Amino acid sequence: MSLNRFARIAQQVVSRAVNQNGNWLIKVVPRLRPPPASAVQAVVRVAAVPRQFSRNPLMRMIQMTIRHSRFIARPLSNVAMNHRAFFGMERPKYKRRQILFKKPRTDFGIVERVRDLFGTKERYNEHLKKGTLPDRLSAYEIGGNIGYGCNAAVYALRLQPDRQGAAPVDDKDLQAYPLALKLMFNYEHDRRNNEDGLWRGMGAELAPLPKAATLLRGRMGDFRPLPCTHPNIVHVGTAFVDSMPILPDARLRYPEALPTSVMYEAIEPDPKTFFVVMQRYRMTLQAYLREQRSSLWARRALVAQLLEGCAFLYTHKVSQRDMKSDNILLSYDTDGEIPQLVISDFGCALANGSFIVDYRHDGMDLGGNLRTRAPEIALAVPPSMVDFSLADTWAAGTLCYEIFTKLNPFYSVLSASTYKEYELPILSDRIPEPTRRAVEGIMKRNPKERLSPSIAANVFSLSLFRFGADLHDLLPSFASEPIMGEMRKVSKRVERVIDDMISLLAAETIAARITSRELISRAELQLRATFMARLSRDELWASLAFFRETPSTSGVESDNESAV
Ligand SMILES: Nc1ncnc2c1ncn2[C@@H]1O[C@H](COP(=O)(O)OP(=O)(O)O)[C@@H](O)[C@H]1O
Ligand SMILES: [Mg+2]
Repeated sequence: MSLNRFARIAQQVVSRAVNQNGNWLIKVVPRLRPPPASAVQAVVRVAAVPRQFSRNPLMRMIQMTIRHSRFIARPLSNVAMNHRAFFGMERPKYKRRQILFKKPRTDFGIVERVRDLFGTKERYNEHLKKGTLPDRLSAYEIGGNIGYGCNAAVYALRLQPDRQGAAPVDDKDLQAYPLALKLMFNYEHDRRNNEDGLWRGMGAELAPLPKAATLLRGRMGDFRPLPCTHPNIVHVGTAFVDSMPILPDARLRYPEALPTSVMYEAIEPDPKTFFVVMQRYRMTLQAYLREQRSSLWARRALVAQLLEGCAFLYTHKVSQRDMKSDNILLSYDTDGEIPQLVISDFGCALANGSFIVDYRHDGMDLGGNLRTRAPEIALAVPPSMVDFSLADTWAAGTLCYEIFTKLNPFYSVLSASTYKEYELPILSDRIPEPTRRAVEGIMKRNPKERLSPSIAANVFSLSLFRFGADLHDLLPSFASEPIMGEMRKVSKRVERVIDDMISLLAAETIAARITSRELISRAELQLRATFMARLSRDELWASLAFFRETPSTSGVESDNESAV
């Protein structure tokens, strides 16, 4: 029914009602006030303009469509483009090559299915299992010391055993004491009721804890912790402020952080400090490289995990700002096993939803260790805006050299502010070329030219698949800039290759889980799950370019390759 006809019927009904029983209608309809003069003028102005379109809605639509021909070509253009233009949003920038191979996808393909499988099922991604921990010191039993830093001492920890008088267990055993307690040094025991100050000053440690907002209760303003846990970021269980225990090693190792009246005029009657409860890891990367022999394969898997951690931090706009080998922790059960790696120590982290810091004066702390500051941070002079977005990725690049050569060139030989890219150590040619080029990519001095951590992580992960031994052979051969006619064909082939490859990799991973743990180590299985849980076609394509453009065989070394 057209609107006109509908309006005519409505008019008839109303006039009949008024004729039959006009009185009740006058009572129901509110009295209209005379409209303001400005409104009358506006109506007159509008009415004076000749009517441009028909009253009939269908006709009006046809008229409008003819007048705005753009509407025929792109019926939805108004929606997205005007929205973007209005809100000043940039149009997405795609690199030329990405446009060439971008195929409109309406279906939910293999890549997406595999991503969801590994991203949501605990069975394939053990990291998804969760648990909660108590928020007071008395619920735990503290074991021996396992590490010291500049700001804290770390102890073995376990939940208080259920039974009193249970047999003592060795605190060196990671199964018996599976947790670690970070006791933060509080140098302000003379400040009374300083609980809020402790949370504010040390809360950055909670960047890896998704529930941090509940614990912090707004004490850190714009603090934005990571939204979920990640297998390559330290697992922080909880944090709390509680009474400071005087542990056996305390007087010897950190006397200045103890509440003694020698140091303070008036100390708090119940001195407190800040505690962080974490999963316990076996050793630092620094100790591992010093003490353990490991295969090249294992070290490539370590780099891949490190880059996965960086990619996750980058995605969620958190910068750890203190990437060095004693802040990287490893866990493994048996010697020779590939360790699981996590980035830890977020005490200097920048986590407020932006990578940009307004560096106003020299006194401002840009965080972390001077030697592993990326060039753009090392060279920053106030006043300026400092961008930390790829600073962790650069520092992770220096750790790649440490993992492969046992020496971090930036701890002794090179300086971040002055080094030239050609001065970087040459990595062994037993390391696949695509991965070597990825390391070069993340060590670019200019952050604008630097490779993103997710693509570098992809290159390492792809090089570690056994079926994908030589990705170079799997990829279709075509000219790097195909002519227009070829484009669609090439694009389809690339999509098919990516689908086939991902199916193969997923199948290999699932089969390895079911059959034998020895085929693929626990850490490697987790790495694959992490990689597959963040699959994106565009990033995959950018990563495959490293293999496609590599003429050599990106060989898979056997597991028996010599340990270093
Ligand atoms: N979760 C953990 N498991 C095992 N050892 C740890 C853990 N966290 C820290 N450590 C050890 O304690 C040391 C100091 O911890 P860290 O968090 O780096 O403190 P700081 O902020 O003072 O540098 C580390 O270098 C490491 O040896
Ligand atoms: Mg540290």
